[in-house]
Amino acid sequence: MCGIVGAVAERNVVQILLEGLRRLEYRGYDSAGVALIHNGQLNTVKRTGKVQSLSDAINSENGLGATGIAHTRWATHGSVTETNAHPHVSTERFAVVHNGIIENHKVLREALISQGYTFNSDTDTETIAHSIAEQMKITGDLLQSVLNAVKTFHGAYGTVVVDKEDPNTMVVARSGSPLVIGLGFGENFIASDQMALLPVTRRFIFLEEGDVAEITRTTVKIIDTDGNEVERDIIESLVEHDAGDKAGYRHYMLKEIYEQPSVIRNTLKDRVSADGLADNIFGRDSESIFAKTEYVKIIACGTSYHAGVTAKYWLEQYAGVSCDVEIASEFRYRKSVVPANSLLVTISQSGETADTLAALKLAKEIGYTSSLAICNVDGSSLVRESALSFMTRAGTEIGVASTKAFTTQLACLLMLTIAIGKHKNMPKEVQQNVLEALLTLPTKLEETLQLASEVEDLAEEFSDKYHSLFLGRGDQYPIAMEGALKLKEISYIHAEAYASGELKHGPLALIDAEMPVIVVAPNNELLEKLHSNVEEVRARGGIMYVFADKEAQFESDETMRVVNVPHCMESIAPIVYTIPLQLLSYYVALIKGTDVDQPRNLAKSVTVE
Ligand code: AGP
Repeated sequence: MCGIVGAVAERNVVQILLEGLRRLEYRGYDSAGVALIHNGQLNTVKRTGKVQSLSDAINSENGLGATGIAHTRWATHGSVTETNAHPHVSTERFAVVHNGIIENHKVLREALISQGYTFNSDTDTETIAHSIAEQMKITGDLLQSVLNAVKTFHGAYGTVVVDKEDPNTMVVARSGSPLVIGLGFGENFIASDQMALLPVTRRFIFLEEGDVAEITRTTVKIIDTDGNEVERDIIESLVEHDAGDKAGYRHYMLKEIYEQPSVIRNTLKDRVSADGLADNIFGRDSESIFAKTEYVKIIACGTSYHAGVTAKYWLEQYAGVSCDVEIASEFRYRKSVVPANSLLVTISQSGETADTLAALKLAKEIGYTSSLAICNVDGSSLVRESALSFMTRAGTEIGVASTKAFTTQLACLLMLTIAIGKHKNMPKEVQQNVLEALLTLPTKLEETLQLASEVEDLAEEFSDKYHSLFLGRGDQYPIAMEGALKLKEISYIHAEAYASGELKHGPLALIDAEMPVIVVAPNNELLEKLHSNVEEVRARGGIMYVFADKEAQFESDETMRVVNVPHCMESIAPIVYTIPLQLLSYYVALIKGTDVDQPRNLAKSVTVE
């Protein structure tokens, strides 16, 4: 979604800001802009489309400024135009960038218009700029003006303001949208994601909810939500600097698909061995929490939700503990009952998904006492706000369509199954079996990736299709859901997933030769049932693409193309069968010529509702 970069320095910061925006491009956006302060002037440049157009425009006019703020916008209020792009300016003096949504913007707008302000855009953000300008009339101090102004905002914001009359200062405020301060030597920075600042610093302060900060070249002053000046920890970032490099792959998504064996090795490292799970890998208090746990509630969105649904099958089948999974945006707006001795598990690649964060907050309010975040970003809001956290260690994921984040989440959830199961009479041999399966996983994924050219061939047959159906049973049902999500995200082909047993309850009516049916079929106890479902489709003239274990006895014929997936142990099959479905969506998107890494209308980290 929207991205923010800002800098106060002695040198020209234009290229730092532009590089920062480039590094945030993967998050999804539709326009970009920069405001620079130079020789007492505030110069704003904005463009719709890619950061490259903005860069060309700034470079053509030799843009200069030692203080500046920059933004990539993902439209919420107001269409995609230069006027609606950020930064927004008030009284030709203050420039503001903003991530999030000011929900009471209509009321604020009316009040500000009556105070004599003219609005140039349709955005909610412009109310921030004018509100601060209005406060400046009263306080004459930018920090105090922002502290006063934010009290009038309802909604979510990560916002940065500069004043051309005070070119050495940025004031920033965080509520519901992350902001991180980057510390330099004689210069300081702000961004919505540390990735943007890695070329200039590795020392970061992650602002907390409600923080407002004044940043100059040499100082950082942070005021917390109670109005007190506070110190926040300085964190040395371990994030790879060059995650932004495609390493020779045509797309980040393909690179990330191929990274899965190695990142999963990393996920398992020092945590799993043939002797068992290492102690306390979920945190010092985890053992006592898991010993008490009788019910697991999992909350997440999108792909992370699919990981949660898979874990439900595992937790109930292997660990014998009751589990429910819910979409965060549903949970946060309904009344629910908290069963005794519950463990709340949130799953998120980014750790900044607005709905998941709000769901966690609500869960704590209604009585969940133990919370575990399974997350890919250390220091993210979700991690900081959960009692326990477990890092997926997927490395930075740039492609909007989540791949390695999903499979590492699944590996973590299998570890969680054993960690809880060993307190719940999970038989020793079952624990051992799952451990062994996990240890074979990286090699199995390497073998499965060798199916790429076979899957690429098959993708040709989807290029003229508009709809598709994904089928799976048991713990492969969420994998079918994830396969369908991947296909729609990047190829824009309508895809729906069904638990195969549901076919005859409705979707069978859709079957014809124009509706490809993709089936995931490992060799498990549900195989016979799956064979019957396949026959139901065949009898109605459907065309099937079956990803099956060799032993599963599916043969290619005129109505069915079978791709044999390497045989693997049952508990890791959902992870292994994810790979061909990722490859299928990738190659179909390639044929359709879509923007694989930044599909239309989507954002990497969904920080607004
Ligand atoms: C995955 O391909 C999606 N882009 C999306 O569904 C994503 O998984 C979802 O927005 C949740 O994000 P999170 O894992 O960062 O919380």
